[in-house]
Parts: sequence; structure tokens; C-alpha cells
Amino acid sequence: MDVIVDLQYGDCGKGKVAHYLSHKYSYTHVLRYNGGCNAGHTIFHKGKKFVTHHIPAGVFFGVKSIIGSGCVLDPDQFFREIVMLEKGGVRTKGKIFIADNTHVITDAHKNEDKQKGGKIGTTGRGNGPAYRDKYGRTGVRALEIPKLRPYLINLYKEWYENKKDVHILAEGAQGFGLDIDWGDYPFVTSSHCTAAGALLNGLPASAIRDVWGVAKIYETYVGSKKFQPKGEVFKKIAELGEEFGSTTGRRRQTNWMNMQTLERAIRMNGVTHIVFSKTDVLRAVGEWAVIDKNKVVSFKSEKAMQDFILKRLKSFGIAKNKVYFSDSKETI
Ligand code: IMP
Ligand code: MG
Repeated sequence: MDVIVDLQYGDCGKGKVAHYLSHKYSYTHVLRYNGGCNAGHTIFHKGKKFVTHHIPAGVFFGVKSIIGSGCVLDPDQFFREIVMLEKGGVRTKGKIFIADNTHVITDAHKNEDKQKGGKIGTTGRGNGPAYRDKYGRTGVRALEIPKLRPYLINLYKEWYENKKDVHILAEGAQGFGLDIDWGDYPFVTSSHCTAAGALLNGLPASAIRDVWGVAKIYETYVGSKKFQPKGEVFKKIAELGEEFGSTTGRRRQTNWMNMQTLERAIRMNGVTHIVFSKTDVLRAVGEWAVIDKNKVVSFKSEKAMQDFILKRLKSFGIAKNKVYFSDSKETI
């Protein structure tokens, strides 16, 4: 299993890495391992733009796509997404599955989140209340919902009893900075966003091969806490980077990339490969900087900033040839 994990606050471009990896290797499954329809994955496929919330990117490449037991699922949104994909020409029949022990987001969860989620600035999609009820042991699981029956899968049978080789690409949602344990609590989501979250879908620790960390060359965050410092440059980054949430349309706050956040995320996720996305945005802005040990460190050029980053990554054992700097529209 290879794992894709976001090292910041979501929206770093996991879909792009999923796209690259699924061409490089032949996976038998793509597994969405955490989160609900709070996630918004923007994918450009055959010249068309798709925004998915639940369904993993594997479906675009005809790979069996599973919404895992670490997720919570809104059946209405799930069916809307299938219709949207089919209308866009993506074949979904026999490709999309839900683990039978995945918990369900109900109307009551959504209503509660819309009314009370403001303090955290949630997406209002019922994610937090659904996980609370799961852990409070009052939740409803997918296997109890008749209309989901045609999509259900038993993960034990799928991983261990199908007599075929299994090669999984595990696709995380949200990001390390939003992780329930390691993010900036309470301004976090309610699931396990780290690479460890992938294992919670019935997989042993030894299953993990590569961990692809995805980071943006600057940071963005959407939610209630104050994140963006004062300065015109941050407004410019948001504008040129088109930083609006793909689920709620909210404007994302921006900041320079924080090296210590990145270092924590690399260590705790066991990152082996790393992709920095949206490098063209800082080029368009014409300024390069990171935050290192609480200070802004500015660079004269893109190359100088990349050299600084590469040197740091080397000290974590991540070689230059495992680091990718990529532009918004570019594939890696
Ligand atoms: P919730 O996950 O809807 O409960 O929201 C909790 C926090 O996570 C809020 O700050 C949301 O804006 C943020 N969040 C949730 N999902 C995503 C995502 O996919 N990308 C970016 N931020 C997210
Ligand atoms: Mg997103």
C-alpha cells in the first residue's frame, strides 16, 4: 500500500498525486481512508473539472474505489456524486464501494453541524456529529441502510480472502494540521488524517510501502481561527492562487509555509516522497519566503528557496530525487 497524506491544512493537491501514482503503478484499489463529505477534491479529467467529496480519485482511472471504515458517509451526497460522475462521462458501475462498517452521516448530524459548527468554522456537512455518535456507540452503519446495499463491501474479505494480489493506493482527506490529535485542537476535523489513519481500514502496519506527503509552497487554512498575518502579499497569494474552498466556497486564509509544521508532519507520517504544489503562485506573486523557527526567512529567488527546502529535507533522509516542485496546472 502507498499512502497519500496532506502535510498542512488540506487542499494541497492530493488528487494530482493520486493521478500521477495511478499511472505509474497499477493499483488494484484506491481507498479513501478518513473524513466525510467535508473534503472537496478538485480533479481535471479529460479536460473537464470535477469536484468530488466522498468518492476516491481511483474512479477516474477505472480502479476499484472504496470508501473505507475510517470515513463517515452521507448517502445523499454519495448518490449525488454518482449521478454527477456519470453525467460527466465517468463510468462508475462496479467501481465504487463502501465498507459495510462505515458510519453514516444523518440529517440530524448535518442540521446540528450547520447550527453549531460556527465556533470551529466547520464545513457544516455533519462530519463531527457523525464521528461523535460513532465513538459514543449510538451511530448508524452503512450495512443498516437498504439503499446502500448494492455498494457494500466487507474489507476483511476484500483484503484477505479474494485470492488475488492487493495493491492499494490510500488517499487521505483533510491534512495533518487538521488531524484530531496532532492538529491545532479544537480547530481540527474529527478524523485521523495521518498515514496511520490508512491502517484503521483493516490493514497491518507492514502494509505501508511509500508515503507521499503533499504540501503547498505556501499555507492555506479555512475555518474560524485567525491564521493569515497582516500584509498585502497574503491577499495577493489568495487571489493569484484562487484560494476558495471547493466544498463551501469560503475564502482560504494564507501564510508562508511553516518549516516546523512541515518537519512534524514529515516525521509523524513517515514521509518517503514529497510533492510541493502551486509553485507558480509564488512566482506570479514575485516573493519567496518561509517561516522558520517563528521568523520569516525571505529568499531572492525561487531557486534559493528550493535549495533551502532541499537541504532541510536531506537532513530528514529525503533525497532530492524524491522531492517534486510542481505548478498548478502541471502534472508531476
Ligand atoms: P469539519 O471537518 O467540517 O468538521 O471542519 C473542521 C475544520 O476542518 C474546519 O476548519 C474546516 O474548514 C476544515 N476542513 C474540513 N475539511 C476540509 C478540507 O477538505 N479541506 C480544507 N479544510 C477542511
Ligand atoms: Mg479540498
